[in-house]
Amino acid sequence: MSDNNLKNKPLSYWLTSTHDTNYPTLNEDLDVDIAIIGGGLAGISCAYLLQKEDFKIAVIDAGRICQGATAHTTAKITSQHGLIYNKIRRQLGDELARQYAEANEKAISEFKKIIDEHHIECDYILQSAFVYTEQEKYIKQIEDEVKAASELGIKASYVEEIPFAIPIHAAVRFDNQAQFHPRKYVLSLAKIIHDNKVLIFENTRAINIEEDDKYIIITEQGKKVRAEKVILTTQYPFYNKKGLYFSRLYPKRSYIVGIQAKEKYPGGMYINAEDPARSLRSQNTDKGELILVVGSNHTTGQSEDTEKHYEELINFAQDIFTVEDVPYRWSTQDYTTPDGIPYIGHFTSDTTNMYVATGFQKWGMTNSMVAAMIIRDLILEGKSKWLDVYNPSRKNIIPSAKNFILENLKVAENILEGKLSSLPDNIEVKPNEAKVVKIEGERIGIYRDQEGQYHLVNTTCPHMGCELNWNQAEKSWDCPCHGSRFTYKGDIIEGPAIKSLRFSNDVNTIEKLIKDDF
Ligand code: FES
Repeated sequence: MSDNNLKNKPLSYWLTSTHDTNYPTLNEDLDVDIAIIGGGLAGISCAYLLQKEDFKIAVIDAGRICQGATAHTTAKITSQHGLIYNKIRRQLGDELARQYAEANEKAISEFKKIIDEHHIECDYILQSAFVYTEQEKYIKQIEDEVKAASELGIKASYVEEIPFAIPIHAAVRFDNQAQFHPRKYVLSLAKIIHDNKVLIFENTRAINIEEDDKYIIITEQGKKVRAEKVILTTQYPFYNKKGLYFSRLYPKRSYIVGIQAKEKYPGGMYINAEDPARSLRSQNTDKGELILVVGSNHTTGQSEDTEKHYEELINFAQDIFTVEDVPYRWSTQDYTTPDGIPYIGHFTSDTTNMYVATGFQKWGMTNSMVAAMIIRDLILEGKSKWLDVYNPSRKNIIPSAKNFILENLKVAENILEGKLSSLPDNIEVKPNEAKVVKIEGERIGIYRDQEGQYHLVNTTCPHMGCELNWNQAEKSWDCPCHGSRFTYKGDIIEGPAIKSLRFSNDVNTIEKLIKDDF
């Protein structure tokens, strides 16, 4: 294995092994029954379930569909979301734990049904899923999880071995779970709904939602989409006027390396119970078996050396396999809620025709399908049997209020620290490095590319004013508050920000900087 492989440009296998999409940009005003903002797995699944009911539906995406979290996931179709069932049962009671279990088990079977019905070729394979521990103190939690999941109707068992050289103490095993290729699945589903008259628009960023007798979505290009009902399935809702989502969703990044190993992967999907997180699955490719090694989570914008997360995963892989190559590496961003349960349902308790699905943490596959089923039921019947546990306006979030307060304190600290922190006097920037400096009272982020060219941006986040931090592994400016990310040129990679950073490659400014300070 060459050292260069560790420094590969981030590259998702799911993206490189599928074709690009080419849906049009919205260039005229539009009137629909339902507008879905966000064309990832959740948005396309909502459109799929609702198009059967003869609604006029439009899906709009700020970039290309299925290029965000769905294109960077581990793609496990599982109701095993870490050690969640005993936790929900303890904190929220049997009934809400039962709802969560039932919804996710149903989501697994719904994927199978859709894949079979439409003969979707998406590398779908049944697998068992395991949560294991290497620490004795977690054994009791594993036992409790087996008991809770079994009593909630999930086929769960306690095991003491997994087929790897990992010295485990115990594991919980769920059978009849699955894995797939998420983009093969979503792109096929998008084609099916598009053929069935669902409108799909790409490069159509929603920047505002107004209300009169209907909702009016305003796009970056100034076009209007009038809709009876709006569903927000962007990872983080950009709409800030209601709901206070910015105070109750926390962005986390995690990393994936795709390795080729001498040994054959023994099957199954694995994650550990403790920190740092480590997760494994495999994927058959044209070039042989790829093993996905996942983990090293941290809050967005709060890791000083992002490269080290990839290296940690390679080291972990080398303890288990004879690693021959690392052809892929990529990272992803997920949003967490204070109690670890997504927000799915009405955007707020008084927005009866606006719906949201967000906060899936690392478990976006089944939770996206759950979102589509809940929102379909709310639109068609005005109720869902799983709404109580997922309700975005739930009041029983209090058991985790401590996390909520801590995370919001961190946001406040980040805003203040960003404004007060001292900035380097010396602005020398080496090729392939970045630095934040103050020029005429303004904080400027400077990235110098491999060819020596400078790229300057204003590093104050256009969402709510936090100061951005440099992410060396992804060459991006990341916001520690709510997870907006921008390229080194200032373009938005992911929201909630809806405006790019002000960018300058103004030759005079750069020449002045160099003359004054170098
Ligand atoms: Fe909210 Fe940056 S994403 S302040």
